[in-house]
Amino acid sequence: MGERNQFASKFGTMAAIAGSAVGLGNIWRFPYVAGNNGGAAFLIIYAIICVLISMPVMLSEFVIGRRGRSNTYRSFMVASGKKGWGIVGAVEIFAGLAILAFYCVVAGWSLEYIFASAMGQLKAVEGVDLMEQIAQMGVRFDTFVGQGGEKILGIYRPIAWTIIFLGLNCIVLAFGVSKGIERCSKFMIPALFLLLLVLVIMSVRLDGFAAGAAFLLKPNWSAVTPQTIMDALGQSFFSLSLGMSAMTTYGSYIQKDQSLVSVSFIVVIATILMAILAGLAIFPSTFTYGVEVSSGPGLVFKTLPALFASLPGGPWVGVVVSPIFFVLLFFAAVTSSFSLLEAGTAYVTEEWGFKGKKINRPMALVILFVLVGTLSVFCALSQMEGSSLFIMETSLFDFLDKLTSNIILPLGGIAACILVGQRMEREVVFDELTSNGQFSAKLVKFFYFMAKYICPIVIFYMFIKGLE
Ligand code: PHE
Repeated sequence: MGERNQFASKFGTMAAIAGSAVGLGNIWRFPYVAGNNGGAAFLIIYAIICVLISMPVMLSEFVIGRRGRSNTYRSFMVASGKKGWGIVGAVEIFAGLAILAFYCVVAGWSLEYIFASAMGQLKAVEGVDLMEQIAQMGVRFDTFVGQGGEKILGIYRPIAWTIIFLGLNCIVLAFGVSKGIERCSKFMIPALFLLLLVLVIMSVRLDGFAAGAAFLLKPNWSAVTPQTIMDALGQSFFSLSLGMSAMTTYGSYIQKDQSLVSVSFIVVIATILMAILAGLAIFPSTFTYGVEVSSGPGLVFKTLPALFASLPGGPWVGVVVSPIFFVLLFFAAVTSSFSLLEAGTAYVTEEWGFKGKKINRPMALVILFVLVGTLSVFCALSQMEGSSLFIMETSLFDFLDKLTSNIILPLGGIAACILVGQRMEREVVFDELTSNGQFSAKLVKFFYFMAKYICPIVIFYMFIKGLE
């Protein structure tokens, strides 16, 4: 195999990996879950879980990738020395592509809203009170995705945006790992951070800032239950892109002299920080207007546009804030989708062939564009009223979400820990984690112990609970 792709700089590596982690999950789910589960109490538990459970899993995935220097399927085989382990890698890759399919649909919505807000379509209507504005935004969104209202009109736009979003991903990836993914992430992740800061600063002047910040940050230990810990674990897995081939693939691009422990630590910190900032950008406006706090598409595409449009200071405030918010949502989504698509691209270019020749990157991206694009279109269609794309009484969209988050993700995490902790030789793992002795082995010992003994049990427990 010729020279393999890799990340070119240390900062670029962190930006790309943090980009995979910081995504829709951090922006629209984490702040809500944290707020409802004890605020700072949840944050503390979350941070502990990230370090004790998720970091060892992330490190295990990095070790497998960097050891295998290949796509997730082959890296699992190389690291274990057994062909059968390749199946685990392959399942993760396909699960990642399934996540990508519904991720593209939602990310496509952010593109629609960037344009709608920039064109002034989300401006407040004079003389209409806030609750009515929110209701109108709700109707706008439902109509757009094809639920209720003028259904026929809404049908092609979400599909078109989904395809455009996937197309943009393919174009960036066609430039390669360092010239495409890394270069974009180096710009988008700092930009995302700055945009979040701008929104937080704008929200500091709101009457509801103190209440919003308190919701997110005031510790309330009485809200913490065993379920809180399960929620924190599930959230941290999804948020840190674990069990889904993304981190194994990115791990294979990390240069040998970069410390895996520092990369994972910085990524965890950056992910938590961005999620807190997202909460501080969102909640003060909900508290200012006494709107019920929520999460998911309802919050992002229905409540927030109406709140932004009504912010004090004149209509210009909404005209500036709304596009900023949707651009940052887009940056968060696109840097995550790169990692899922890259896992598939590495697999196709390295494993598939045609008439004895390997498939090149552009060709692989065309193949994936068609495969993932088709599934995405079905996901978008399954959201529409009257759609019959249902599996086990849930829409294809929700089905893929549940299947991947509740089943494949924890199993993938357990597999990585078992492979690194039980099957690979200890020296090999330590060489990888200390970059051949370049970095201290102290922390490595701790993470190795966790990955070997504790993580598989804890995650398995979470998996069983998740099935109930
Ligand atoms: N971490 C991303 C988020 O928080 C989602 C994701 C999951 C991305 C798995 C890649 C792999 O939205």
